[in-house]
Amino acid sequence: MPSHAEILASNSLLNDTTTPLISVFVGATSGIGKLTLQALVATGASTRIYLIGRPSSLERTQPFIDALHALNPRATIIWAEGEYSLLSETRRICDDILTKEARIDLLFLTAGYAPMFTERAETEEGIEITQSLSYYSRMLFVMKLLPALKAKGEAPGRVISVLGGGLESASGIALDDIDLKKPGNFSGPGMQKQNLGLNSVALDKLAEENPDVVFVHAWPGWVDTGNVHRGVKEGTVWSMFVKWFLAPLIGLVAIRDEVAAQRYLFEATSGYFGGGGVEWKGKAGVNVKGEEGRNGLFLVNYKAGCTPNSKVMEALREKARDKVWEHTVRVLEPYS
Ligand SMILES: NC(=O)c1ccc[n+]([C@@H]2O[C@H](COP(=O)([O-])OP(=O)(O)OC[C@H]3O[C@@H](n4cnc5c(N)ncnc54)[C@H](OP(=O)(O)O)[C@@H]3O)[C@@H](O)[C@H]2O)c1
Repeated sequence: MPSHAEILASNSLLNDTTTPLISVFVGATSGIGKLTLQALVATGASTRIYLIGRPSSLERTQPFIDALHALNPRATIIWAEGEYSLLSETRRICDDILTKEARIDLLFLTAGYAPMFTERAETEEGIEITQSLSYYSRMLFVMKLLPALKAKGEAPGRVISVLGGGLESASGIALDDIDLKKPGNFSGPGMQKQNLGLNSVALDKLAEENPDVVFVHAWPGWVDTGNVHRGVKEGTVWSMFVKWFLAPLIGLVAIRDEVAAQRYLFEATSGYFGGGGVEWKGKAGVNVKGEEGRNGLFLVNYKAGCTPNSKVMEALREKARDKVWEHTVRVLEPYS
């Protein structure tokens, strides 16, 4: 596992050649995405970043964008607006980006939250909202932007999905009800477990079919972003529990923002993961197939170390992948 000193050393080598030239961030209007985007801009490198945000976030985000331009005048931040919890909007946003960019170096996906203490709520497209944000919309972004991620560049295109990589279990996906729609099947923890398992299985399939792209499914541990407040309904006992107990506890044990930011910048740019980016001279990261120094899918823990979970991934590949993929393609097909 890379030490924090090694992470900082790698990040300090970022320059115009090793920094992703063109990035797409979905979910960087707050939290881990925002921290990472800021760290990327702070490298001083010339870079162009599409910041996808919902309309209601623009007013709050504009000062952040202005500050980034002041921090690094060689960075261009392009606000790309859309209600990306909807797949029709995700498609529109991607189509729009693809009219402007032939190559994308980095797709960084962090939108979503765990519906821990809320009831099932669906988008107007009939998809449970956290599942749309954490899984379906993310996969549609990947699939739509894949041609640009595969186009020739300085390094392999890279996809990073931040959710729960390494936490999947062999029996962790409800295959008979992938969307947890049947009465009694939905629960907050259940949906979170389902979404992280689906991410790993789908990214494993995409990694196998696209060996020229690097895929990372990261688990952030605790980062004090306020994410925990999103999954509760205000005015309930659970909201009190989160406010007075869980959130302060997270505040005590959370990874510091600046540490998290450097770890995700490393995941976005280091040759530790499959090659490309900043050259990595030590022992390379190991992908889910147990391979070192190759592209593929990397399950990455909160310290930016690889947790290949190979046995579980092998079992999921055998038992779950085809079913998950067929279902996913069926859901996404009208929007692809
Ligand atoms: N933070 C942690 O400790 C932690 C731990 C484990 C897993 N995770 C997971 O890791 C991912 C990133 O976490 P984070 O803490 O960086 O998240 P965050 O800051 O709370 O939120 C990330 C993004 O999700 C967007 N979002 C939330 N609800 C939305 C909605 N209904 N429609 C559209 N966009 C919505 C936010 O947009 P707005 O700015 O417009 O609200 C924001 O850009 C999340 O999926 C989270 O569940 C986080």
